[in-house]
Amino acid sequence: MATGCPINFDVAYLREQVRSTYEQVARNPEGDYHFHRGPDYAHRFLGYDPDELARLPELSTARFAGVGNPLAIGPIGAGATVLDHACGAGMDLLLAAGKVGSRGRAIGIDMTPAMIECAARAARQAGLSHIAEFRQGYYENLPVPDASVDVVISNGVLNLSPEKHRVMNEVFRVLKPGGYLYLADVVVQQELNMEARSNPDLWAACVGGALVEPELEALAREAGFARGRITRRFNCFYDTTAESKVAKHLFVQSVNFIARKNP
Ligand SMILES: C[S@@+](CC[C@H](N)C(=O)[O-])C[C@H]1O[C@@H](n2cnc3c(N)ncnc32)[C@H](O)[C@@H]1O
Repeated sequence: MATGCPINFDVAYLREQVRSTYEQVARNPEGDYHFHRGPDYAHRFLGYDPDELARLPELSTARFAGVGNPLAIGPIGAGATVLDHACGAGMDLLLAAGKVGSRGRAIGIDMTPAMIECAARAARQAGLSHIAEFRQGYYENLPVPDASVDVVISNGVLNLSPEKHRVMNEVFRVLKPGGYLYLADVVVQQELNMEARSNPDLWAACVGGALVEPELEALAREAGFARGRITRRFNCFYDTTAESKVAKHLFVQSVNFIARKNP
Protein backbone atom coordinates (compact mmCIF):
# COMPACT_ATOMS: atom_id res chain seq x y z
CA MET A 1 0.00 0.00 0.00
CA ALA A 2 1.64 3.25 -1.17
CA THR A 3 -1.12 5.70 -0.26
CA GLY A 4 0.93 6.46 2.83
CA CYS A 5 4.56 6.14 3.64
CA PRO A 6 6.60 3.06 4.55
CA ILE A 7 7.05 2.87 8.32
CA ASN A 8 10.13 4.80 9.47
CA PHE A 9 10.32 6.55 6.13
CA ASP A 10 11.63 10.09 6.42
CA VAL A 11 9.12 12.23 4.45
CA ALA A 12 11.33 15.34 4.47
CA TYR A 13 14.31 13.34 3.16
CA LEU A 14 12.15 11.74 0.48
CA ARG A 15 10.78 15.10 -0.69
CA GLU A 16 14.33 16.47 -0.87
CA GLN A 17 15.41 13.47 -2.99
CA VAL A 18 12.48 14.05 -5.35
CA ARG A 19 13.14 17.80 -5.55
CA SER A 20 16.83 17.26 -6.20
CA THR A 21 16.11 14.70 -8.97
CA TYR A 22 13.79 17.11 -10.82
CA GLU A 23 16.09 20.08 -10.19
CA GLN A 24 18.73 18.06 -12.09
CA VAL A 25 16.25 17.22 -14.86
CA ALA A 26 15.47 20.96 -15.18
CA ARG A 27 19.16 21.86 -15.36
CA ASN A 28 20.29 18.91 -17.50
CA PRO A 29 17.45 17.04 -19.24
CA GLU A 30 19.97 15.01 -21.28
CA GLY A 31 21.49 13.46 -18.11
CA ASP A 32 21.36 9.85 -17.01
CA TYR A 33 18.07 9.05 -15.22
CA HIS A 34 15.97 5.98 -14.40
CA PHE A 35 13.09 7.22 -16.58
CA HIS A 36 12.42 8.51 -20.12
CA ARG A 37 12.05 12.18 -20.98
CA GLY A 38 11.44 14.49 -23.91
CA PRO A 39 9.19 14.92 -26.96
CA ASP A 40 10.30 11.84 -28.89
CA TYR A 41 9.40 9.65 -25.88
CA ALA A 42 6.10 11.55 -25.48
CA HIS A 43 5.21 10.84 -29.11
CA ARG A 44 6.44 7.24 -29.44
CA PHE A 45 5.42 5.86 -26.03
CA LEU A 46 2.51 8.05 -24.99
CA GLY A 47 0.81 9.05 -28.24
CA TYR A 48 1.35 12.83 -28.18
CA ASP A 49 0.99 14.58 -31.54
CA PRO A 50 4.57 15.31 -32.75
CA ASP A 51 3.48 18.38 -34.73
CA GLU A 52 1.83 19.93 -31.65
CA LEU A 53 4.98 19.26 -29.62
CA ALA A 54 7.23 20.72 -32.33
CA ARG A 55 5.37 24.02 -31.98
CA LEU A 56 6.25 24.29 -28.27
CA PRO A 57 9.58 25.59 -26.91
CA GLU A 58 12.23 22.93 -26.45
CA LEU A 59 12.82 24.43 -23.00
CA SER A 60 9.55 22.78 -22.00
CA THR A 61 9.36 19.63 -24.16
CA ALA A 62 12.95 18.46 -23.47
CA ARG A 63 12.13 18.38 -19.73
CA PHE A 64 8.85 16.51 -20.06
CA ALA A 65 8.90 13.59 -17.62
CA GLY A 66 5.27 12.46 -17.59
CA VAL A 67 4.11 8.85 -17.79
CA GLY A 68 0.84 9.15 -19.75
CA ASN A 69 -1.20 11.59 -21.78
CA PRO A 70 -3.83 13.42 -19.67
CA LEU A 71 -4.85 15.71 -22.53
CA ALA A 72 -5.99 12.68 -24.53
CA ILE A 73 -8.42 11.67 -21.75
CA GLY A 74 -11.17 14.15 -22.48
CA PRO A 75 -12.01 17.54 -23.91
CA ILE A 76 -10.77 20.86 -22.56
CA GLY A 77 -13.10 23.62 -23.67
CA ALA A 78 -12.34 27.19 -24.73
CA GLY A 79 -12.62 29.49 -21.73
CA ALA A 80 -11.97 26.73 -19.16
CA THR A 81 -9.68 27.02 -16.15
CA VAL A 82 -7.14 24.18 -16.11
CA LEU A 83 -4.75 23.35 -13.29
CA ASP A 84 -1.68 21.11 -13.57
CA HIS A 85 -0.90 20.36 -9.93
CA ALA A 86 2.78 19.38 -10.54
CA CYS A 87 3.51 20.77 -13.99
CA GLY A 88 7.27 20.32 -14.24
CA ALA A 89 8.52 22.35 -17.21
CA GLY A 90 4.94 22.87 -18.34
CA MET A 91 4.52 20.86 -21.56
CA ASP A 92 1.00 19.64 -20.74
CA LEU A 93 0.03 23.03 -19.37
CA LEU A 94 1.11 24.86 -22.54
CA LEU A 95 -0.87 22.38 -24.65
CA ALA A 96 -3.85 23.05 -22.36
CA ALA A 97 -3.32 26.83 -22.66
CA GLY A 98 -3.65 26.47 -26.43
CA LYS A 99 -7.02 24.75 -25.93
CA VAL A 100 -8.56 27.15 -23.37
CA GLY A 101 -7.56 30.23 -25.40
CA SER A 102 -7.46 33.82 -24.23
CA ARG A 103 -10.76 33.59 -22.31
CA GLY A 104 -9.39 30.69 -20.23
CA ARG A 105 -6.64 30.17 -17.69
CA ALA A 106 -3.94 27.54 -17.34
CA ILE A 107 -2.33 27.38 -13.90
CA GLY A 108 0.79 25.34 -13.21
CA ILE A 109 2.02 24.46 -9.72
CA ASP A 110 5.32 22.75 -8.95
CA MET A 111 7.54 22.55 -5.89
CA THR A 112 10.84 22.69 -7.82
CA PRO A 113 11.89 26.30 -8.56
CA ALA A 114 14.07 25.37 -11.57
CA MET A 115 11.11 23.61 -13.22
CA ILE A 116 8.79 26.58 -12.62
CA GLU A 117 11.40 28.94 -14.11
CA CYS A 118 11.66 26.79 -17.27
CA ALA A 119 7.87 26.59 -17.56
CA ALA A 120 7.38 30.35 -17.18
CA ARG A 121 10.15 31.15 -19.70
CA ALA A 122 8.69 28.61 -22.14
CA ALA A 123 5.23 30.21 -21.79
CA ARG A 124 6.75 33.60 -22.71
CA GLN A 125 8.60 32.05 -25.69
CA ALA A 126 5.35 30.43 -26.86
CA GLY A 127 3.41 33.71 -26.52
CA LEU A 128 1.10 32.09 -23.97
CA SER A 129 2.00 33.98 -20.80
CA HIS A 130 -1.31 35.90 -20.91
CA ILE A 131 -3.06 32.52 -20.38
CA ALA A 132 -0.53 30.35 -18.53
CA GLU A 133 0.68 31.27 -15.05
CA PHE A 134 2.99 29.35 -12.73
CA ARG A 135 3.19 29.23 -8.95
CA GLN A 136 5.67 27.45 -6.74
CA GLY A 137 3.81 25.24 -4.28
CA TYR A 138 2.92 21.74 -3.12
CA TYR A 139 0.11 19.61 -4.43
CA GLU A 140 -0.62 18.48 -0.88
CA ASN A 141 -1.61 22.10 -0.13
CA LEU A 142 -2.53 23.80 -3.40
CA PRO A 143 -2.34 27.61 -3.52
CA VAL A 144 -5.67 27.66 -5.39
CA PRO A 145 -9.18 28.60 -4.13
CA ASP A 146 -11.98 26.05 -3.58
CA ALA A 147 -14.20 25.13 -6.56
CA SER A 148 -12.30 27.35 -9.02
CA VAL A 149 -11.00 24.85 -11.63
CA ASP A 150 -12.79 23.03 -14.49
CA VAL A 151 -10.12 20.41 -15.20
CA VAL A 152 -7.15 19.23 -13.13
CA ILE A 153 -4.46 17.53 -15.18
CA SER A 154 -1.83 15.35 -13.55
CA ASN A 155 1.03 13.49 -15.19
CA GLY A 156 3.38 11.14 -13.36
CA VAL A 157 3.20 12.83 -9.99
CA LEU A 158 0.66 11.22 -7.64
CA ASN A 159 3.10 8.33 -7.15
CA LEU A 160 5.72 10.76 -5.82
CA SER A 161 3.70 11.79 -2.78
CA PRO A 162 3.87 9.90 0.51
CA GLU A 163 0.53 11.62 1.33
CA LYS A 164 -1.68 10.57 -1.57
CA HIS A 165 -4.98 11.06 0.28
CA ARG A 166 -4.07 14.72 0.80
CA VAL A 167 -3.17 15.13 -2.87
CA MET A 168 -6.48 13.65 -4.04
CA ASN A 169 -8.48 15.63 -1.45
CA GLU A 170 -6.85 18.82 -2.71
CA VAL A 171 -7.74 18.00 -6.32
CA PHE A 172 -11.34 17.44 -5.23
CA ARG A 173 -11.41 20.70 -3.24
CA VAL A 174 -10.24 22.96 -6.09
CA LEU A 175 -12.50 21.41 -8.75
CA LYS A 176 -15.83 23.06 -9.52
CA PRO A 177 -18.89 20.78 -9.23
CA GLY A 178 -18.99 18.84 -12.50
CA GLY A 179 -15.23 19.32 -12.98
CA TYR A 180 -12.90 16.58 -14.20
CA LEU A 181 -9.62 15.02 -13.13
CA TYR A 182 -7.54 13.82 -16.10
CA LEU A 183 -4.72 11.89 -14.46
CA ALA A 184 -1.86 9.73 -15.73
CA ASP A 185 0.16 7.76 -13.22
CA VAL A 186 2.22 4.65 -12.66
CA VAL A 187 0.52 1.56 -11.22
CA VAL A 188 1.72 -1.90 -10.27
CA GLN A 189 -0.28 -5.12 -10.34
CA GLN A 190 1.07 -6.47 -7.08
CA GLU A 191 2.39 -4.87 -3.88
CA LEU A 192 6.09 -3.95 -4.11
CA ASN A 193 8.37 -5.30 -1.44
CA MET A 194 9.54 -2.97 1.33
CA GLU A 195 13.02 -2.73 -0.15
CA ALA A 196 11.61 -1.24 -3.38
CA ARG A 197 9.14 0.98 -1.49
CA SER A 198 11.94 2.34 0.70
CA ASN A 199 14.43 3.06 -2.10
CA PRO A 200 14.48 6.88 -2.56
CA ASP A 201 15.97 6.59 -6.08
CA LEU A 202 13.19 4.27 -7.16
CA TRP A 203 10.63 6.52 -5.48
CA ALA A 204 11.96 9.58 -7.34
CA ALA A 205 11.84 7.54 -10.57
CA CYS A 206 8.03 7.22 -10.12
CA VAL A 207 8.07 3.50 -9.24
CA GLY A 208 8.67 3.20 -5.47
CA GLY A 209 5.47 5.10 -4.62
CA ALA A 210 3.24 3.64 -7.34
CA LEU A 211 -0.22 2.50 -6.29
CA VAL A 212 -1.40 -1.04 -6.74
CA GLU A 213 -3.95 -0.52 -9.54
CA PRO A 214 -7.26 -0.88 -7.62
CA GLU A 215 -5.99 1.62 -5.02
CA LEU A 216 -6.20 4.43 -7.58
CA GLU A 217 -9.97 4.16 -8.02
CA ALA A 218 -10.40 3.68 -4.25
CA LEU A 219 -8.36 6.80 -3.52
CA ALA A 220 -10.51 8.88 -5.90
CA ARG A 221 -13.73 7.47 -4.42
CA GLU A 222 -12.58 8.20 -0.86
CA ALA A 223 -11.84 11.81 -1.85
CA GLY A 224 -15.46 12.16 -3.07
CA PHE A 225 -15.27 11.47 -6.82
CA ALA A 226 -18.36 9.75 -8.17
CA ARG A 227 -16.73 7.49 -10.70
CA GLY A 228 -13.17 6.83 -11.72
CA ARG A 229 -11.93 4.61 -14.49
CA ILE A 230 -8.81 3.76 -16.44
CA THR A 231 -9.02 4.73 -20.10
CA ARG A 232 -5.64 3.68 -21.50
CA ARG A 233 -2.39 1.93 -20.59
CA PHE A 234 1.25 2.73 -21.48
CA ASN A 235 4.58 0.97 -21.26
CA CYS A 236 6.33 4.10 -20.03
CA PHE A 237 9.35 2.38 -18.45
CA TYR A 238 10.26 0.20 -21.43
CA ASP A 239 14.02 -0.40 -21.40
CA THR A 240 14.81 1.92 -18.46
CA THR A 241 16.88 1.18 -15.37
CA ALA A 242 13.71 1.67 -13.29
CA GLU A 243 12.14 -1.27 -15.12
CA SER A 244 15.16 -3.45 -14.48
CA LYS A 245 15.05 -2.73 -10.73
CA VAL A 246 11.64 -4.27 -10.07
CA ALA A 247 10.57 -7.84 -10.68
CA LYS A 248 8.99 -8.33 -14.10
CA HIS A 249 5.88 -10.07 -12.73
CA LEU A 250 4.89 -6.86 -10.91
CA PHE A 251 4.19 -5.40 -14.33
CA VAL A 252 4.94 -1.73 -13.77
CA GLN A 253 3.03 0.37 -16.28
CA SER A 254 1.20 3.68 -16.45
CA VAL A 255 -2.46 4.47 -17.02
CA ASN A 256 -4.69 7.33 -18.06
CA PHE A 257 -7.49 7.74 -15.50
CA ILE A 258 -10.61 9.93 -15.47
CA ALA A 259 -12.78 10.94 -12.53
CA ARG A 260 -15.56 13.52 -12.16
CA LYS A 261 -16.79 15.60 -9.24
CA ASN A 262 -20.58 15.38 -9.08
CA PRO A 263 -22.33 18.44 -10.57
C1 LIG B 1 7.78 13.11 -13.05
S1 LIG B 1 7.87 14.87 -13.03
C2 LIG B 1 6.44 15.23 -13.98
C3 LIG B 1 6.32 16.67 -14.33
C4 LIG B 1 5.24 17.00 -15.35
N1 LIG B 1 3.93 16.61 -14.91
C5 LIG B 1 5.56 16.38 -16.69
O1 LIG B 1 4.71 15.64 -17.20
O2 LIG B 1 6.65 16.61 -17.21
C6 LIG B 1 7.42 15.20 -11.37
C7 LIG B 1 7.24 16.67 -10.99
O3 LIG B 1 6.51 16.69 -9.77
C8 LIG B 1 7.01 17.73 -8.97
N2 LIG B 1 6.65 17.43 -7.58
C9 LIG B 1 7.01 16.36 -6.84
N3 LIG B 1 6.47 16.39 -5.61
C10 LIG B 1 5.72 17.53 -5.58
C11 LIG B 1 4.91 18.14 -4.57
N4 LIG B 1 4.78 17.60 -3.36
N5 LIG B 1 4.25 19.28 -4.89
C12 LIG B 1 4.41 19.86 -6.12
N6 LIG B 1 5.20 19.34 -7.09
C13 LIG B 1 5.84 18.19 -6.83
C14 LIG B 1 8.50 17.71 -9.25
O4 LIG B 1 9.10 18.93 -8.91
C15 LIG B 1 8.53 17.42 -10.73
O5 LIG B 1 8.56 18.60 -11.51
